Amino acid sequence: MQQIKDNQLLKTFSYIDGSWHSSESFFNVSNPATGEVLTQVCNAGIAETELAVKAAKNALKKWSAKSANERGTLMRNWFNLMIQHQDDLARILTLEQGKPFAEAKGEIGYGAAFVEWFAEEGKRVYGDTIPAPSGDKRIVVVKQPVGVVASITPWNFPNAMIARKAAAALAAGCTFVVRPATLTPLSALAMAELAERAGIPAGVFNVVVGEDAAGMGKVLTQHPDIAKFTFTGSTAIGKLLIEQCASTVKKVSMELGGNAPFIVFDDADIDAAVEGAMASKYRNAGQTCVCTNRIFVQNGVLEEFTEKFKTAVASLTIGDGMTDGVQIGPMISSNAVDGVDKLVTDSVALGAKVLLGGQRDSAGNTFYQPTVLTNVSNDMPIARDEIFGPVSPIIAFDDEDQVLEMANDCEVGLAAYFYSRDIGRVWRVAEGLEYGMVGINEAMISNAAAPFGGIKQSGSGREGSKYGLDDYLEIKYLCMGGLNK
Ligand code: SIN
Repeated sequence: MQQIKDNQLLKTFSYIDGSWHSSESFFNVSNPATGEVLTQVCNAGIAETELAVKAAKNALKKWSAKSANERGTLMRNWFNLMIQHQDDLARILTLEQGKPFAEAKGEIGYGAAFVEWFAEEGKRVYGDTIPAPSGDKRIVVVKQPVGVVASITPWNFPNAMIARKAAAALAAGCTFVVRPATLTPLSALAMAELAERAGIPAGVFNVVVGEDAAGMGKVLTQHPDIAKFTFTGSTAIGKLLIEQCASTVKKVSMELGGNAPFIVFDDADIDAAVEGAMASKYRNAGQTCVCTNRIFVQNGVLEEFTEKFKTAVASLTIGDGMTDGVQIGPMISSNAVDGVDKLVTDSVALGAKVLLGGQRDSAGNTFYQPTVLTNVSNDMPIARDEIFGPVSPIIAFDDEDQVLEMANDCEVGLAAYFYSRDIGRVWRVAEGLEYGMVGINEAMISNAAAPFGGIKQSGSGREGSKYGLDDYLEIKYLCMGGLNK
């Protein structure tokens, strides 16, 4: 932690109603690359979560009454501070999460971009007028903030997943409470410190950090003063949280699991496809919901693609994310490594072949070798489950209909990618893929202006873009009558 230049960014208390709250118990935050304990964080619980909801409720009236310009100016300050402190925020992120420093800097830029984008987009929350069915009436539609927003965010993007939700909420005029993952709370608390410096009023942005996931989760999904709940994480937990939200009929948006197909057709630019597959698969050591999960390659280019892809994967440098040149950091925990190793072992037992890697790495017990498996079929565990690790299963296919059927044969539908230069095929496949986001000859699809989200069991709602703002707004219909003389 000595590498952090601005020590004030290192906070260990929850941030509630504009002040830092200690509590009696603590938990450790550790560096997944080394196992070293970075610091101890105060363990907030149900009482602090309720306090944060109360603070957000109290702050709502004044924050929503501000003009979009006023909110935008404060958010712009927040964005500027994130960029100004990008290196320190990235160091904190790498130390607690593990991703390579350059990638962590990219995440801070990505997170800050949501704050900048929504600071502007908040000024474009337009209403509507609708021709009325009779002359003595007028129909007007206005949009209003939904109210207090609660969220639970994951460890894989400890900055950007909070920024993407909070920026849209704040721009819409909502106030916000987040419970970040306990594995990576420091990034969230650093964001709170910068929100305070930016002049965002007390109670508008609250961070409660604590290990009582079930208890705090119940408050955030069932408290009557919360109007909307938003979650990024696994489909299994998402289903549970949706059920909990039902008791008070909250508006929900859910960014859940994926199983992204990456399809390479015979007519693809193979070098571009290899580059795309590398970027989409090995980003964050494969621990991303939109990471490529299954690589489908048409038989005519199977050998060429596999050879070039293997060479690219073999060149990856694995190690501590704070070391220069490292491209693959640790996984979040040794349990996560066990899970990935089991998927590989079970699939190999069913006939998959290890072309590269296929085991734990000597760098430490949280490291797994960048792996390529061939001879994989779509029903093997490695293709059915979300891998969330640096393993690429390659599945061969004959034709377009067959690959579409295999790609769509799963319960989730977050992101999909394909490479082809045939314009007719591009449209057919883009329309045929049952996914919320499709990269066509492109693997890096996430950005603030685009609607991020999935279909099927990958969730509901969109984040980022003008659609992301709608998720934090209610439509109110005003009917004016009695206009006749
Ligand atoms: C995620 O893993 O859920 C986020 C990935 C992204 O925003 O690109």
